[in-house]
Amino acid sequence: MLNGKNVYLGKVRSSIRELFEYGKKRKAEIGEDNVFDFSLGNPSVPAPAAVREALIDIIEHTDPVALHGYTSAQGDFSVRKTIADYINARFSTSLTADNLYMTCGAAASLTITLNAILNPGDEVITIAPYFPEYKVFTEQAGGKLIAVAGKVGTFGIDVENLKKALSPRTKAVLINSPNNPSGVVYGEEDISLLVKEIKEYSKPHGMEIYLISDEPYRELVFDKDTKVPYIMNYYERSIVCYSYSKSLSLPGERIGYIAVNNKMPEWEEVYAGVCGAGRALGYVCAPALFQQLVKRVYNQTSNISVYKLNRDRLLSALEEYGYEVVKPDGAFYMFVKALEPDAKRFAERAKQFELLLVAGDDFEAPGYVRISYCVSPQMILRSLPAFKALADSYKSV
Ligand SMILES: Cc1ncc(COP(=O)(O)O)c(C=O)c1O
Repeated sequence: MLNGKNVYLGKVRSSIRELFEYGKKRKAEIGEDNVFDFSLGNPSVPAPAAVREALIDIIEHTDPVALHGYTSAQGDFSVRKTIADYINARFSTSLTADNLYMTCGAAASLTITLNAILNPGDEVITIAPYFPEYKVFTEQAGGKLIAVAGKVGTFGIDVENLKKALSPRTKAVLINSPNNPSGVVYGEEDISLLVKEIKEYSKPHGMEIYLISDEPYRELVFDKDTKVPYIMNYYERSIVCYSYSKSLSLPGERIGYIAVNNKMPEWEEVYAGVCGAGRALGYVCAPALFQQLVKRVYNQTSNISVYKLNRDRLLSALEEYGYEVVKPDGAFYMFVKALEPDAKRFAERAKQFELLLVAGDDFEAPGYVRISYCVSPQMILRSLPAFKALADSYKSV
């Protein structure tokens, strides 16, 4: 008999993918420009020119046998050192290469981390709305995902809800900021209160609760006044799961890292767990060419001004049409209140206007829809009459 759970996971498509496939079909029927596909979070701006230049230079000037060979299981030492030095310079930490583990993107960073720390039955608390794969990753690692609702209306961290969810089985709290699907950035106050709560609960219980920060969108922040706190500066038992998929527009190349805070007393054990989980999952040696690439372009970001332009245009138009929008400070997602209580029905109705929106139910935030605005600015402009017509269709009922 096969593993039923995995066969099931392989057969059911996420509703986001389902919608994307529907969009492809619809585009073939009525033309590419007439379908407004806001379903997927695939970067729409190219990687920075420095990426191409570095790749060409690396390929032309590196011995191919060395370049394409295995690196250390945890990643090339000089790559890890370069990244550790960069994090230290940016966030005043004191990481070394031995705190970093190179991965195939944030998905691998998360699965490895969860497998490193969870025992069967352990609970991982996350804040809704959240990336749906968290449930898959946590359960695969033997844990149980507990979602607590974010603050009503802003989707910041609701500490009271978190308090109620903490239990003797809590092993980790998993946060994602800038957030997919809301685009919300958790500020300093959010993080400080979260950490205070975790400490107040874990200390008297003699527990070790880890704070995991999933950071594929760290660099996608639109205003210089918006700060994304670095969790290692707030909490010692912290682990950062980073990815270059969105910051460098390289999601298909699968490159990222895990950084284990060396301020936690048992960091060597945790790091060993990360190496062990990477080994057990077959995730050793992240793509060697792209390890070398990030060593060269670790401080670069794609041109995110397009995302900002899209956000600004969409935000002001949707508000004008009467939609209630949670203002996103980062990532390339916008969370919009559905114009009827059932967001799935609302998303179905949006299809009549060729708007492909993802119902918030998938992110455990019913009543909202997600718009992925990593699309061309032209598509944003073309889609505005459809958003207006959708809103008007509710007014005339
Ligand atoms: C919140 C979040 N975490 C993790 C991932 C996985 O990213 P990666 O492509 O780096 O595996 C995504 C991808 O969209 C995401 O939105």
